[in-house]
Amino acid sequence: MRRLLVTGGAGFIGSNFIRYWVNHHPDDRVVNFDALTYAGNLENLCDIESVAGYRFVHGDIADRSDVERLLEEEGIDTVVNFAAESHVDRSILGSDAFIKTNVLGTFDLLEAAKYVWKDFSPAQRFLHVSTDEVYGSLAPDEPAFTETRGYAPNSPYSASKAASDHLVRAYHQTYGMSVLTTNCSNNYGPYQFPEKLIPLVLLNALEGKPIPVYGDGMNVRDWLYVEDHCRGIDDVINDGKPGQVYNIGGENEWHNIDIVNLICDRLDQLQPGAASYRDQITFVKDRPGHDRRYAIDSGKMRDELGWTPAHDFTSGIERTIQWYLDNRDWCERVRSGEYRQYYREQYGQSSA
Ligand code: NAD
Ligand code: TYD
Repeated sequence: MRRLLVTGGAGFIGSNFIRYWVNHHPDDRVVNFDALTYAGNLENLCDIESVAGYRFVHGDIADRSDVERLLEEEGIDTVVNFAAESHVDRSILGSDAFIKTNVLGTFDLLEAAKYVWKDFSPAQRFLHVSTDEVYGSLAPDEPAFTETRGYAPNSPYSASKAASDHLVRAYHQTYGMSVLTTNCSNNYGPYQFPEKLIPLVLLNALEGKPIPVYGDGMNVRDWLYVEDHCRGIDDVINDGKPGQVYNIGGENEWHNIDIVNLICDRLDQLQPGAASYRDQITFVKDRPGHDRRYAIDSGKMRDELGWTPAHDFTSGIERTIQWYLDNRDWCERVRSGEYRQYYREQYGQSSA
């Protein structure tokens, strides 16, 4: 039986992970520690609230004493760190929160675990959830990122994640903490905050708004269904080697414009309007420092841990589109307040 502290468990991947974990490991203790920023939403877990063994605690990973108290009180043996500022465009508008949470917050979390765990036992594990974006951008014909690829982050977001990855590594090398780092490709699925490409396209299409595609739309991302990511983290927690890095990806590369077209075409079938949703596609000014291509080589996950994605893109995107169609009220609620201000700043008054 494990006793998990899941940070950022009210966000997109964290909430999917908690749902996955309580379903697959019903005897474990799961403590969700989340600051409830604009991206954190307890409604994502309303079906889990009353599950025995689950507890939510409101807090900031940068509050070291709060974390220490919780680690002791709950006898935590496994930390899974999802808590982060996660949106590249926001990091370009202003990166203070990214440095505070992603860099300093991860440092505080590591310090708290080091203080409470003292002499590390092999059962104690600190899993840090990171991203393929730390590796920078690939040329069209370059092989996908492996775990030995050098870091070359290009956005304040990816630079802050890279910094946190280095700190996590150092706590293994220096102090012998059993850390594990996962670098995952773009996730998609239910509960993703609608500032990210797939839900933004879906909702703008349905609401008759312009669908903003940055630059020429030919940037490539490697998409993984969120549940496959959660299962990969489970495999790494249980069978990963301390101090190791594991790349998790879908081996599923798409040009942005092809995904946007695919969503529009599917909506044309599911919710036909007077004109095709493709007519709403609007090419807009490119994102500064926009990485051209990401692709993950998941060979180590496959060969060492026997992990492969269970969901293909056709079924995953279908489930995702259907989820957003069925949960328009969730979308409305999470987009109230702060998000409206961000949207105006990012996309301009006319498209709000
Ligand atoms: P998200 O933005 O949806 O959720 C982040 C969560 O962290 C929110 O619940 C928020 O309230 C919480 N949080 C933020 N600051 C906090 C703090 N200081 N203390 C405690 N909680 C705090 O993010 P996501 O898309 O679910 O990503 C989760 C993690 O996975 C991040 O570390 C991200 O870098 C990484 N990741 C994301 C993707 C992706 O495609 N979304 C891909 C690879 C890696
Ligand atoms: P995003 O979902 O923000 O993820 P990331 O930047 O972490 O990969 O964006 C995915 C891709 O879609 C990325 O190449 C940027 C592009 N994009 C647009 O073209 N328009 C948009 O409005 C957004 C949010 C993203």
